[in-house]
Amino acid sequence: ELGEFEHYMLKEIFEQPQSLENAMRGRLSLDNATAVFGGLNLSPQELRSVDRILLTACGTSWHAAMVGEYMIEEMARIPVEVEYASELRYRNPPVPQRTLVFGITQSGETADTLAALREMKRKGHPTLAICNVVGSSIAQEADGGIYLHAGPEVGVASTKAFTSQLAIMAMLGLYFGRLNHLSFDQGYRMIQALQALPDAVRQALNTREQAKKVAEKYQAVNNFLYLGRYFNFPVALEGALKLKEISYIHAEGYPAAELKHGPIALVDENTPSVFIMPQGVVYDKVMSNLQEIKARGGPVIAIANEDDHEIEKYADDVIRIPKVEEFLQPIVSVIPLQFIAYHIALLRGCDVDKPRNLAKSVTVE
Ligand code: F6R
Repeated sequence: ELGEFEHYMLKEIFEQPQSLENAMRGRLSLDNATAVFGGLNLSPQELRSVDRILLTACGTSWHAAMVGEYMIEEMARIPVEVEYASELRYRNPPVPQRTLVFGITQSGETADTLAALREMKRKGHPTLAICNVVGSSIAQEADGGIYLHAGPEVGVASTKAFTSQLAIMAMLGLYFGRLNHLSFDQGYRMIQALQALPDAVRQALNTREQAKKVAEKYQAVNNFLYLGRYFNFPVALEGALKLKEISYIHAEGYPAAELKHGPIALVDENTPSVFIMPQGVVYDKVMSNLQEIKARGGPVIAIANEDDHEIEKYADDVIRIPKVEEFLQPIVSVIPLQFIAYHIALLRGCDVDKPRNLAKSVTVE
């Protein structure tokens, strides 16, 4: 089953152009410039009257929800709330009427996500699952949902499920946007951007060699920082989680500008910072955050666009990713972070596919 690959994680990283195509297949309509979902089980009237969305999940799926919040709010102008399922199930927050609840889960078996969805369903909210495993508990409990169609994810560290979840989030933004204010022209251009995505990810897979060099250089450190802003802030969280779970190196993700409110105290010559900074509205701001780290002697690794010639003046290492529309950057910028975690874990002799203390699905509280 592994074929040419040494580990499932590596195989699944390389499957991403294909798994993204599968997530989008049959779900993009150029005729109506919108997304199409077969299994929501809600009428167009019910969907049109949604005025709030609640996304709940754990771990990497929660990071996908964070990106989803940014995407859906930007594209559809619907307020989105993101809650850890483990908090939502006991916290009893006020959830207004006409709130649509999504549980995001690769396995469809995560105990907290299941319990949170049940609680929302009990309160009378429509609940939908965004899920990979067909027929899983959460898929069955929800009123409807959207499958990722990513194929089995065996490596404990989630990779292809994450990028597929992000593609679904973008399509939901498009869908709800088109039910509301988004024009045909805007919808059409978003579809074109989505359709170009698998090729961009295919190109991003070429970052493996650069990521491996970074891994060799920093394999022995004890701490890492991951920094990004706007759409790439949740990617920073995800990059840090990937590294923690498979290499056991302590890593933290932050919105880059939060640095000066505490974490910058951690910076020294043995604490590398990974800046996720493709070009976009916050680029200059992130660049100045990067320079603050450099000024304090911290090594800097930048994930930047191919044609960014400014960055090499400041970063110690640059990993180049292709340019895509800003809202789709996370799907491309996470790829080198997956490779960095993979190669560092490998160099440290860790069991990449089965990290200690972790299980693929967390079926207990
Ligand atoms: C991280 C990871 C976990 C899961 C989390 C939720 O790589 O795999 O953080 O994302 O346990 O799992 P699902 O998505 O199956 O509900």
